[in-house]
Amino acid sequence: MKKIAEIYEGKAKKVYSTENPEYCIVSYKDDATAFNGLKKGTIKGKGVVNNKMSNFLMQKLEKAGIPTHFVEELSERETLVKKVSIIPLEVIVRNVAAGSFSKRFGVAEGTPLKRPTLEFCYKNDELGDPMVNEYHIVACGWATEEDVAEITAYTFKINDFLREFFKGINVELVDFKIEFGKTADGKIILADEISPDTCRFWDAATHEKLDKDRFRRDLGGVEDAYGEMMNRVFKSESK
Ligand code: TMP
Ligand code: ASP
Repeated sequence: MKKIAEIYEGKAKKVYSTENPEYCIVSYKDDATAFNGLKKGTIKGKGVVNNKMSNFLMQKLEKAGIPTHFVEELSERETLVKKVSIIPLEVIVRNVAAGSFSKRFGVAEGTPLKRPTLEFCYKNDELGDPMVNEYHIVACGWATEEDVAEITAYTFKINDFLREFFKGINVELVDFKIEFGKTADGKIILADEISPDTCRFWDAATHEKLDKDRFRRDLGGVEDAYGEMMNRVFKSESK
């Protein structure tokens, strides 16, 4: 399947149409942003890591019963995916307090949560992705009550699966953000990506950060962290 025209450029990916109206091609860039695009930079090789890791995890999730947009990896940076209209929500799961949760609620980073939490944010950079609840979502027409219930059920199932997977490679899944889309026939599927850009990964023993927080917080060793995660994920396969 070949790219026809660029239909969208996001902060970390480009999306192209193909000759099949049901499919798109996503192309992962090395561009990195933080704080809704205020901080900009490049993480060399990130596009390759995120493409491959996301595809790997989505294939595992499909097998575990979660419908995803993944169709076929075309190259190191490009993947054929099902075309969806993105539901404009960032769906965030947290297992351990960190980041904006810690700031907002004054809970020290690293505090384990008594149960996983779920947050929805309205995907809108200009508004700073404000947190919203189910009433806001239905009232504004971003999704229906049934959609939210389905998204919630998928999301906790995804958390259970990913937590176990990462535990097996000595990584603690602190939190992550996912996005869902709707296909032309109205089916909700997991879209976007699952990668060190969108998850907090801590080494299970040392709590060393192995994700985009190294870029957000200027900790250095960004490329090494992405490389380390890539190695651990793909080594798990050869076991
Ligand atoms: P937060 O603590 O900054 O709210 O981030 C929670 C999780 O969501 C973390 O794993 C990083 C991820 N995330 C994104 O993928 N995109 C974003 O725009 C933000 C703010 C967070
Ligand atoms: N999506 C955020 C940005 O806008 C990046 C992040 O913090 O992950 O720039």
